[in-house]
Parts: sequence; structure tokens; C-alpha cells
Amino acid sequence: MAIRVAVFDAYGTLFDVAAAARQAAKEPGQEALARHWQALAAHWRAKQLQYTWLRAITGDHVDFWQVTQDGLDWAMEAVGLEGAEVRERLLALYWELAAYPEVPAMLAALKDAGCETAILSNGSPAMLEGAVRSAGVAESLDAILSVEDVGIFKPDRRVYDMVGTRFGTEPGEVLFVSSNGWDAAGAAAYGFRTVWVNRAGEPMDRLPGRPETVLDTLETIPDLVSRL
Ligand code: LAC
Repeated sequence: MAIRVAVFDAYGTLFDVAAAARQAAKEPGQEALARHWQALAAHWRAKQLQYTWLRAITGDHVDFWQVTQDGLDWAMEAVGLEGAEVRERLLALYWELAAYPEVPAMLAALKDAGCETAILSNGSPAMLEGAVRSAGVAESLDAILSVEDVGIFKPDRRVYDMVGTRFGTEPGEVLFVSSNGWDAAGAAAYGFRTVWVNRAGEPMDRLPGRPETVLDTLETIPDLVSRL
């Protein structure tokens, strides 16, 4: 069955989530952050994701902007970093995260080949719009799907259902791409053809779904789509 739509996770997959802390750490006056930015970025991401899963289980949904702030507050306390100014700077940078370098050409190649493209993300619509705009890839995307339309985070099946609702596709006509191992596992279990972009060389998650393809970067996605 040919692939009709290529669907991408946003944070960590198209956009580099460590970029906010890395960039802020280089700015004048951020010496304390410069000492801790790697630990801060790791804690921030881990807590942000844990809060999405926990809130999905308990039914206490808030949007991704709230869990992003809550995760940062936890991370700053964990590394002993204080200050409203650095907090505001880190949060502001989250709205304009750098895309990975291969992203614009990869999306354009998919569009040229007649494949539809979308983002399916935990991000709130406004956050996603900001990131897409600052990465300059809006024209290469047919849809930006946010979990806010269903009010629960990934990997709840209702999130993956949004693709079929929007594009009228069967799961087997969708290539889902994520660098988050647990998201790739959830999408594979749902029935999507799935790519895990394992940039960090991590072990495969021990979860019910297994991604069909594992890549280092997004560069070869258009080739893959033409072969599936
Ligand atoms: C997203 C999170 C999982 O973009 O990174 O959905």
C-alpha cells in the first residue's frame, strides 16, 4: 500500500528541543546557565514529557505550554538555577526552536513527489505555528495537527486518529516519523508505517509497537516514501 501522507512529530523530531538552553547559555549574562545548560535541557525535556503522560492517565489535561513551563520550573530548581529573566528567555526561545538542518529540503522533496505532509504534535496550536513559522517550513506542510483538538496527549489513540480524520487515510497509508522512541512505538502499535529517527543512538523502547524503520536523520525520508 503506497504512502499518501507523511506525518511528523514536532519536538525532538523536526525541532531541536535542546536548542533553547544551548542558545540562551551563549548569551551575555547567562554564566550560571552556561554551567548547567545540558543538565537543564535534559531535565526540562524529561519532566515535560512525564507530565504529559501523567496528566493523560489522570485526566488532568492542560496544554503543552503549561507542561513546558512546569517542566522548566522543576528543571531550574533541580540544577539550582534561579531568576525570572533566564526563565523568560528560555521560554521565549521555545517558540522559535531551530529546525534540524535537513528539515526544509526533506519536506520540500516530499511535496514535490506528491506526498501530503503534516505535523502531529502534543504542542498547542500557537506553539506549533510559532515553530513552523520561525523554521520557514509552513508552505511545505498540508496540516498542523495539535492534540488540543482531542484534549489528551500522545500516545493516546485518539491523537493518532486525528490523521485519518483529517486526510481520510487508513493507518497503513501513513508514514509516521518520530525521534521519540515511545511515540514511534505508540504509532507502530496503532498501525502506522513508522520511522524512529534515533539521533542519539538510544536502545529501542520495550513497548508493544516496534518501528519498522530506524534512521539517524530525516534526510532519506523522501527515498523511503518512494519505496514503501
Ligand atoms: C510532540 C512531542 C512528543 O511534538 O515532542 O508531540
